[in-house]
Amino acid sequence: MATKFSSKIGLIAATVGSAVGLGNVWRFPAETQTNGGAAFLLIYILCVLLLGIPVMLGEFAIGREGGTDAVGDYKRISPRTGWWLIGAMGLLASYMILCFYIVVAGWTLEYFISSLTGSLYSGAGEGTASFAAKMQDYVAGDVKPIIYTVLMIGINMLVLLCGVRKGIEKISNLMMPLLFLILVIFCVVALTLPDAGEGVKFFLAPDFSKVNGSVVINALGQAFFSLSLGMGILITYAAYFPRETKLKRTATIVSLLDMLVAVLMGLIIFPAVTSFGMQNESLEGATLVFVTLPEVFTRMPGTQLWSSLFFILLLVAALTSTISIAEVSVRFCQDRMHLRRRSAVLLVMLPVLLFGSLSSLSMGSLSSVHIFGLTFFDFLDTFATNILLPLGSMAMCIYAGWFAPKGMIASQLDNGSPVRSLSTRVVLFIIKWIAPVAIAVILVAQFN
Ligand code: ALA
Repeated sequence: MATKFSSKIGLIAATVGSAVGLGNVWRFPAETQTNGGAAFLLIYILCVLLLGIPVMLGEFAIGREGGTDAVGDYKRISPRTGWWLIGAMGLLASYMILCFYIVVAGWTLEYFISSLTGSLYSGAGEGTASFAAKMQDYVAGDVKPIIYTVLMIGINMLVLLCGVRKGIEKISNLMMPLLFLILVIFCVVALTLPDAGEGVKFFLAPDFSKVNGSVVINALGQAFFSLSLGMGILITYAAYFPRETKLKRTATIVSLLDMLVAVLMGLIIFPAVTSFGMQNESLEGATLVFVTLPEVFTRMPGTQLWSSLFFILLLVAALTSTISIAEVSVRFCQDRMHLRRRSAVLLVMLPVLLFGSLSSLSMGSLSSVHIFGLTFFDFLDTFATNILLPLGSMAMCIYAGWFAPKGMIASQLDNGSPVRSLSTRVVLFIIKWIAPVAIAVILVAQFN
């Protein structure tokens, strides 16, 4: 019998672990900052609830029905058709994402270790400029970032080699409670800082004059990236769901917890930034956690402790996500190429050594080498996130809504019951009519 997660808690922890990642703790605050604050948050929440959950359910249904890898599921459900290309697109997207994501995961490890040893703070001058210079130094070096990338690849391989239950599920069971605990501690600290209210206002009081087309596009992109949609991950994990797992409940819990982490991150970062009067620093959103926060920590008693705790939070988030991103390819190699798990893990991860190193170098000494005008790192990110993810999600909705065997998706959503619940009908309507159109509009709009 195919591998299944061994408990309900483990299943939720692993799936939430996949969703909660650098997308929530790094990308979300950055996007919120760049897109004007609370109005972005509101649109992001609407995108998760109205589109994200139904699309996630489409992937869950296909994954559990197929019971194998992201490509094989389509081959099993619709044999002798070309629909498996949707799975292949997810596989390609996840592999491209892995090759730059693992580099950022390496930075989090580097920042964690240098927080512990104190080297992040040694010689730091007044203001964010010295941390901006340190970040440049940390990420653009030729050797150190590659060493940390290799370490992250090694940690991932260890977990993946232990398998679905003893590796992925076990580590998620340990890491997810830790992540939520650290988040809550930081939230309490941030919200009790003097003048925290200003940051809360920026984050929670919407100013609709800031909403425009690009804010909506970015919010949808953020929602899809954060929920791991279109990456083949949820299809792969759903194959490990037992028959009795309630898909609608699981998708709702996973999406709400994923959103909660993003909101808690906002409630940590923005109050901390305003409390220390740093809201006017003209920093890009992407540097919030690697530049602005270290500067915030220097102004707090217990700098190294808070800094280490924060970067371990980032590290945990990154690790549970990279594992799930890699699992898409590992499962593919096991099921399509009939490899043992050990060979599959090696076949998947060894090339990541090469591509990860190249994307790391493209932040420094290879920064002048461009593909379609982008560095290798940005090319992987942009092509996978802006094109493959929405295209794959749209194609999945078209398949699930119009071409999948009649009643299959509905039957998965209602756990085999012949009676169609109202919530299933609503989800099917969104998958069939609304999601493909909304995603297509956004896909086209980003090129205008
Ligand atoms: N969903 C994962 C993240 O947000 C990929 O980082």
